[in-house]
Amino acid sequence: METTEIETRRAANPSVGRGRYVFPPGLRLNLPFYLFHRFFKPGNPILLFEHLRRFGRAAHYRILWSHVVLLNEPDDIREVLIDKASSFGKDRTQKRMKILLGEGLITSDGATHRRGRRIVAPAFHRQRIQRYAGQIVDLAAGVSGAWRPGETMDIAAEMMRLALQITARTLFDTEVTAEIREINEQVNAIMDLYNYLVALPRAELLLKTPLPGMRRFRRAKARLDAVVEAMIGARHAEVAAHLAAEDERGDLLSLLLAARDDGAGGDGLKLTDEELRDQVLTLFLAGYETVANALAWTWMLLGQNPAAEARLHAELDAVLGRRLPTLEDMPRLEYTAMVLSESMRLYPPAWAMGREVLEDVRIGPYALPKGTMVFFSQYIVQRDARWFPEPERFDPERFTAEAKAGRPRFAYFPFGGGGRQCIGESFAWMEATLVLATLAQRWRLALEPGQRIEPQPKITLRPKSGIRVRTVERTARHMQ
Ligand code: HEM
Repeated sequence: METTEIETRRAANPSVGRGRYVFPPGLRLNLPFYLFHRFFKPGNPILLFEHLRRFGRAAHYRILWSHVVLLNEPDDIREVLIDKASSFGKDRTQKRMKILLGEGLITSDGATHRRGRRIVAPAFHRQRIQRYAGQIVDLAAGVSGAWRPGETMDIAAEMMRLALQITARTLFDTEVTAEIREINEQVNAIMDLYNYLVALPRAELLLKTPLPGMRRFRRAKARLDAVVEAMIGARHAEVAAHLAAEDERGDLLSLLLAARDDGAGGDGLKLTDEELRDQVLTLFLAGYETVANALAWTWMLLGQNPAAEARLHAELDAVLGRRLPTLEDMPRLEYTAMVLSESMRLYPPAWAMGREVLEDVRIGPYALPKGTMVFFSQYIVQRDARWFPEPERFDPERFTAEAKAGRPRFAYFPFGGGGRQCIGESFAWMEATLVLATLAQRWRLALEPGQRIEPQPKITLRPKSGIRVRTVERTARHMQ
């Protein structure tokens, strides 16, 4: 068999046995350092996953002593997330996220995760979150009202600010205007180092060193904790002074403050202050970056696809006329939802997921030992031409009910799946739909010519240098 430096086991040798274990084909060498440099140095692990895609259904490589398997087949992903979910835990990389998120829903496992999920889930039930629709539209209308025709801006940064405001209002019933720039900066400082920190062995120890980068990370994390702790503290003080009942404010924080673990199998106890801080910080960070990026990519795609943009405008004009959208409009904003779905197919804000094998397990034709890390990437799988012909093309028609019914469940999974499916999915849909409808009703955003827009996979998939647009007013001022 002809071999290249890195590509040694090809599809001709579909799986490779090691005693009772069967791995997919892949890289023979330990993921070599030059590969690390070639693919990771520019900060783009997607290039590595794209490279491994050539092995077909799945690919195998090793990092030091660990086996790593990349799965590309929807049915294999379903086995991991649903059929055999109990044989998998959060992978070590995500556990490392504890240096940022503590023991919140994203990083915890087993009983801790189940307790957290039982307590937090009711606050995210569809009926519960619907009360936030009006606040979302208000904040989006504020942005729309502040734009001037012909203005140029980085729409990625603008969406980040808006999503942060929405999260602050709905989660904490607070304005974070003064702190937005700072919180954004802290998260950016963390993101710069993050991919390296989670990939490095013993990163926890590294974090304690006085290296300038580590000091910056520690400062940023301490500041984020302080912001969240201050909000929780202020709420406790209000309750203690009998200014408000625990759940009176109606925001997510008050629901979490009042919640007890009294679901089936629960212990009846409330969250401790530390649990509350970690859960709230997790929701805070998981909640705004993702939605902001989904919206930013959507504006880029609309700017590149005038026909889809015109259809979106036609729907908004027909359903809303000149009034602002409400929750009740959502079922009729079908094309708006299709645009967002297709945008999250091409640019999934959560671009990859991982699990660690907890006990020897069979997945498809493979037999994987305990300790194997298993990855799958929304970015890769959602560009598979079997389910999405001409995958690079933006085409919201892929998300009609009929088209969706013809695909396997995990051909498209921007919100994950199974017991750990995104808890904020309904919230994210409501927010993204109402924001897009409110802004696109009045504005077109024309892409500034000559810019290079590049996806950068950090924790979420961000546009590397932002997306520069110029505002074009579609309609005269609304008559609200
Ligand atoms: C477009 C927006 C969003 C996308 C694409 C997204 C994507 C995801 C994905 C793929 C997962 C599963 C991760 C895994 O299983 O490893 C997840 C989990 C999670 N998401 Fe989201 N998310 C979004 C918005 C939100 C919002 C708005 C919130 C909260 C306000 C949120 C909170 C969470 C939490 C807490 C988890 C962990 C759930 C668990 O493990 O039990 N997300 N999200």
